[in-house]
Amino acid sequence: MTLWSGRFDTAPDPAAFDFGISFGFDRALFEDDVTGSIAWADALGAAGVLSDEDRASIVSALEAILEEGRRNPAWVSGPDEDVHSFVERQLISTVGDAGRRLHTGRSRNEQVSLDLRLYLRRRVPVLQQALVKLVAACADQAESGVTAMMPSYTHLRRAQPVLVAHFFLSHASALRRDYERLQAAADEADALTLGSGAIAGTSYAVDTEHLARALGFSRVVLNSMDASSDRDFVASFLYAASLTMVHLSRIAEDLIIFTGEEHGFFELSDASATGSSMMPQKKNPDPLELVRGKTGRTIGRLTGWLATMKGLPSGYNKDLQEDKEAVFDAEATLSASLDATRAVVSRLSINEDRAGRAASGLLLATDVADYLVSRGMPFRRAHEVVGAMVRRLLAEGRDFSSLTLSQWREASEMFGEDAPRAATALASVQARRTPQSTNPEAVRAALDECRVWVKKRFQV
Ligand code: ARG
Repeated sequence: MTLWSGRFDTAPDPAAFDFGISFGFDRALFEDDVTGSIAWADALGAAGVLSDEDRASIVSALEAILEEGRRNPAWVSGPDEDVHSFVERQLISTVGDAGRRLHTGRSRNEQVSLDLRLYLRRRVPVLQQALVKLVAACADQAESGVTAMMPSYTHLRRAQPVLVAHFFLSHASALRRDYERLQAAADEADALTLGSGAIAGTSYAVDTEHLARALGFSRVVLNSMDASSDRDFVASFLYAASLTMVHLSRIAEDLIIFTGEEHGFFELSDASATGSSMMPQKKNPDPLELVRGKTGRTIGRLTGWLATMKGLPSGYNKDLQEDKEAVFDAEATLSASLDATRAVVSRLSINEDRAGRAASGLLLATDVADYLVSRGMPFRRAHEVVGAMVRRLLAEGRDFSSLTLSQWREASEMFGEDAPRAATALASVQARRTPQSTNPEAVRAALDECRVWVKKRFQV
């Protein structure tokens, strides 16, 4: 029997009916569905639609259903079309006719949106905590890299020396924006849909403001027609999840490169790497590669969902049922990827020697040019002078550190005895002046600020 069998004279064809069953995945909304139904029963009671007796028996039966489902998740199953039908069937089997009154004035259209909003409100903070832990792992690595140096890259060519701490804090900065972006998606979901009915609103005097507060929502939706098909919050969540994955993929790529034999700035822990079945020497960064790979899947969920929403006529359409698998899959992928990335980052060791050596040499050219600028030479001119020096040094297979004073002077009269001292990685980072730079004091302050950020959000 279906929720609508009164209107139909034949049993559903399984090929059509089973196709629409969502219980296999929307059972994840079980808790939210019962929570919403308890509040709805109270609201109907307050509006005088349910007798006090019916209200009380519905509420206590729903509470028992919630407890049973929490105790034994496998119990949340059956031939039902969706989780809403399951909860209603259980309710009716416990309290009979009173249970048949619960759906008065309510539609599954607003109910399913409500459930998903409640779900995101529960789950986004869990993702945010995983993000906070990853930011903390980056801060820990930054702590061990406040004196170590490495090259930074543009176009994947050596650019300028930076502190290793600066590198880790750069990724932490992006992750902190992701935290806010997830929060914005949760805020968008923070509106009560109940009272919208199937599309035109409900005809019972339900106090929606009171109901919103009872369910912990900060507001009620503006328009019932919009509410029945609004899944913008789903798109926002998928976008936030996708961009976070994009950031994780960039961390992954950096670490795949920097832990490889060619760079060797960091070493992967044996605990977070994998071996090869054939080549005994291999230590592969599989978890990082998977994070990078899964990013494509999450972006697919976002674009897939936008395509589903495009051109939908006003009001609820069954297409909207596709929202849930997109959300659940993006959530599970992001959650696992955050944990895997943290496991890798927290166990990395820094190869100070190797990274430091790569941070000196010709990538100090900008600092040498800055030296000339500090002696009064226009920057464009200094760029030319140092460019010629670089060309010559490259041809001779050496770098600034091997130049004698007369060779410095040959390049420009403006070079003094202190020129070689300006051309070191340490002098280079110390020469930076701005708060967002890799200047060691600025990095120390940035690290402290990052720690405060973590501390404010970290929940034990
Ligand atoms: N399983 C449905 C969904 O996910 C619930 C809403 C069904 N509403 C309807 N009018 N058939 O969207």
